[in-house]
Amino acid sequence: MSALAAEPAPALADAVDAVRQRTDHTPELVLILGSGLGDLADEADAPTVVPADSIPNYPQSTVDGHHGQLVFGTLEGTSVVFVQGRVHAYEGYPTPRLTFPLELCHALGATRLLVTNSAGGINRTFQPGQLMFITDHLNMAFADPGQGQMASPRDTAARRDVHASTASPLHTGYYDLEWTGQAQQVGAEQGVLTVRGTYAWTRGPSYETRAEVRMLSTLGADAVGMSTVPEVLQAHALGMDVLGISTITNFAAGLGHEVLEHEDVLKVGQQVRGDLRTLVRAIVEKT
Ligand code: 6GU
Repeated sequence: MSALAAEPAPALADAVDAVRQRTDHTPELVLILGSGLGDLADEADAPTVVPADSIPNYPQSTVDGHHGQLVFGTLEGTSVVFVQGRVHAYEGYPTPRLTFPLELCHALGATRLLVTNSAGGINRTFQPGQLMFITDHLNMAFADPGQGQMASPRDTAARRDVHASTASPLHTGYYDLEWTGQAQQVGAEQGVLTVRGTYAWTRGPSYETRAEVRMLSTLGADAVGMSTVPEVLQAHALGMDVLGISTITNFAAGLGHEVLEHEDVLKVGQQVRGDLRTLVRAIVEKT
């Protein structure tokens, strides 16, 4: 590790201090909740809520219904922190800023990341309402939270050991496949059937054209969304174990056989949230 990487990042240290004034909770696991999945944090026992606007340097969400907060508590006896209201590249944040909540949770003690998102299905065998474990990704933004740190390491919260983080995925990948296999098994034991696949990250906010969906399909994508990859890259660089789950909420452009009715979408949303709740509890308890 370089001398620079060993220096504490002042922006992060201020944020840690602010959280520590409200709770001495040391989370083991951080759960980042995707759009429409924020109410999973209601599952936390003995919750302590820390609003994003009480934390210095924390990126504030600009999307309606995405109010940012950290929820500390326990789940199935494990000490966890939920990140509600993540920020996205399409809100105008540079990639290194997107990972601030994850870095903060790591600085507070978390060593494992369970990251969730909502995604459009590209694999033709997938249906809305399915849960997909992310086993690999396509970084279609070609953006990285480590960008800028070589030039100005003092200015970014996303400082890390670039060389360590770029070398290892060649051998291991970014997603912990052993953890994923166990998670899939405990899910199946609870009656939650899941699929596996490759997640493509686009910056958004526009959805893909039919031609772009064909391109992503050709490249091997099974689902597409606008989040997750920055946090996964950063978590890997920090040496954390990573598990990723996409909820397939809709078909990507041109793949729907018929127009999905709003009511169907809501029903799908409700059912998939129930499945996700069951799956996450089983994962936290048994893996
Ligand atoms: Cl179809 N595309 C992208 N980029 N993100 C999504 C999506 C589609 N559906 C949910 N999130």
